Amino acid sequence: MPVEFLGIAATNDGSETTARSGAAFDKQYTLRLGRAHEDHGWDRVLFAYGSGAPDPAPAAAYLASHLDRLQILLAHRPNVSYPTFAAKTFATLDQISEGRLTVHFITGGNDHEQRREGDALTKDERYARTREYIGIVKKIWTTHEPFDHEGEHYLFHDFVSDVFPVQQPRPNVSFGGSSPAAYAAGGAEADIYCLWGEPLARTAEQIERVKAAAKAAGRTDVPRIQVAFRPIIAPTEELAWEKAHRTVGAIRERRTSGLVRHHRPGSSEAPTPQNTGSQRLIAIAEAGERYDRALWTPTAAATGGAGNSNALVGTPETVAQALLDYYDLGVDILSARGYDLLDDAVDFGRYVIPLVREEVAKRDAERAERGKRTLTAVNG
Ligand SMILES: Cc1cc2nc3c(=O)[nH]c(=O)nc-3n(C[C@H](O)[C@H](O)[C@H](O)COP(=O)(O)O)c2cc1C
Repeated sequence: MPVEFLGIAATNDGSETTARSGAAFDKQYTLRLGRAHEDHGWDRVLFAYGSGAPDPAPAAAYLASHLDRLQILLAHRPNVSYPTFAAKTFATLDQISEGRLTVHFITGGNDHEQRREGDALTKDERYARTREYIGIVKKIWTTHEPFDHEGEHYLFHDFVSDVFPVQQPRPNVSFGGSSPAAYAAGGAEADIYCLWGEPLARTAEQIERVKAAAKAAGRTDVPRIQVAFRPIIAPTEELAWEKAHRTVGAIRERRTSGLVRHHRPGSSEAPTPQNTGSQRLIAIAEAGERYDRALWTPTAAATGGAGNSNALVGTPETVAQALLDYYDLGVDILSARGYDLLDDAVDFGRYVIPLVREEVAKRDAERAERGKRTLTAVNG
């Protein structure tokens, strides 16, 4: 299976190491960053969702209408919308982008952040709501006759949409979370299951949980798996490690000087993150700094396990090999984001992506060859 690469579609140049230089929605930067991904071999970019952040759906429409190939992964939080409304937004966006949309359904891992937009459910209740929501969105995308819905969280009658996605039967559904409730909901509904980068053994464990949940939900297929990292690359190992230490120094400095604007799990507002994914990242960092070929945890520790935060450090060759280890484990989509978003997207696209694609093509060709030989042996 060809591997896919997911980058980030930020709407400004701020990151954990750098204050943003302009407005939260910087139109020119949004386009430059998207174009850098499109021009350097990436498949797709993620528009994330945060309570106070610019709305990702119109930002995604803007980017898609200016670029030809780059696909969009749109983060969407059910609590802020009704599924009938959202399904039309997604279908319209799939039309604007000519079939380049995937929707990443966000349940929300932090009560405080959820309450900012009026959501008082507990995390497990939110997962049940997300599951119902995704089921409705899928039905609206594929149903041409009016229908009623009377569920636990949503109630409507006689609805049919007049706008349908370009992708048939429907766009893909992406999903993330590491708690039992997350595996149950995502195992049932997701086409793509997203994990944050952890050591290989722990990632293998999570993949098994996802597969078991899909089976328990009665599926015969399994979601494709995505894993996310923060690569720190340089021409030599020594330079890469110097850069890694500089990076974590800058993260710590911004956090201790109170310059980080937005709430994150593990911030002073919520010292212990409520989401299992971040708790896992903190526990892994406490147990060790380095894992496997290139995984480095101080970047995760310094942010309190804030989402995609474990680094892969080394030369492009080392980082490419480390990513291939995850491919060999069954990962289909590799997500990566640097700390200097624009320059790192270009460097990673130029120096790492081609190495990984080339090796994946070789592995796939070898596998096909082995398959052919086995078939010949069986058939005599
Ligand atoms: C790849 C990925 C991307 C995510 N993006 C967002 C996001 O943009 N906004 C957000 O509030 N939560 C985001 N989340 C959080 C999850 O949707 C989920 O709410 C949280 O991880 C729940 O945690 P738990 O099941 O591990 O306890 C993301 C999670 C993953 C794995």
